[in-house]
Amino acid sequence: MNNSKKLIIAIDGFSSCGKSTVAKDLAKKLNYIYIDSGAMYRAITLFCLNNNLIKENNIDESKLKSLINKIKISFKYNTKTGEAETFLNGNNVEDEIRNVEVSENVSPISKIKFVRKNLVKQQQNLGKNKAIVMDGRDIGTTVFPKADIKIFMTADVDVRAERRYKELTQKGLNVSLEEIKENIKKRDHLDQNREISPLRKADDAIILDNSYLTPSEQLSWILDKIEQKTLNFKL
Ligand code: DC
Repeated sequence: MNNSKKLIIAIDGFSSCGKSTVAKDLAKKLNYIYIDSGAMYRAITLFCLNNNLIKENNIDESKLKSLINKIKISFKYNTKTGEAETFLNGNNVEDEIRNVEVSENVSPISKIKFVRKNLVKQQQNLGKNKAIVMDGRDIGTTVFPKADIKIFMTADVDVRAERRYKELTQKGLNVSLEEIKENIKKRDHLDQNREISPLRKADDAIILDNSYLTPSEQLSWILDKIEQKTLNFKL
């Protein structure tokens, strides 16, 4: 593969619509770094839960603010699975950050101004050498407003709930389809309506509705768009 150009590829969109699947596939194909920015918001949420900073839906923001610089989030490549895993202060939290309790609490955490400021800075740093695919909600609008390629993903809410249900039950988690659907709907609403960096399509983003596309079909779709958008970029 002659991949002469180092691009920043931003993938934004709704919860559970397969952003990370396509972003990972794309990063592998292009030999780029893949960063799941949602994992960073989830890691901060897990930190809050583990340290009793969330009680009865109230977040102790001043305590979190005083501790935020002590929260170290990193990604390490697992050679066995061939995927990057999320670490929080040195511990592998890749599975824990996907549980329902974290999912239930992550939207309010991701609304906090100093949390976003801190994570956006870290995300921009991770992308300073380009050759990166990052997925999230504000990557094409706030983190990398000058990204070379911007994709905005969406899919039918029932299809998204089914996919997440399958993923979690396959991991052995005891969840119901209905609670997952409700959580997705709630997060869509909160993500789109928060004050800072709400989820919205960047003007120059291309929309990908993958409700009825397989992972390999959506990968081909994006590779096609990249080819159309970039000169001298042969895949
Ligand atoms: O992609 P995800 O579902 O794992 O993300 C978890 C939450 O983090 C999601 O509800 C919204 C928030 N998030 C965000 O606000 N900005 C990002 N760039 C990524 C995620």
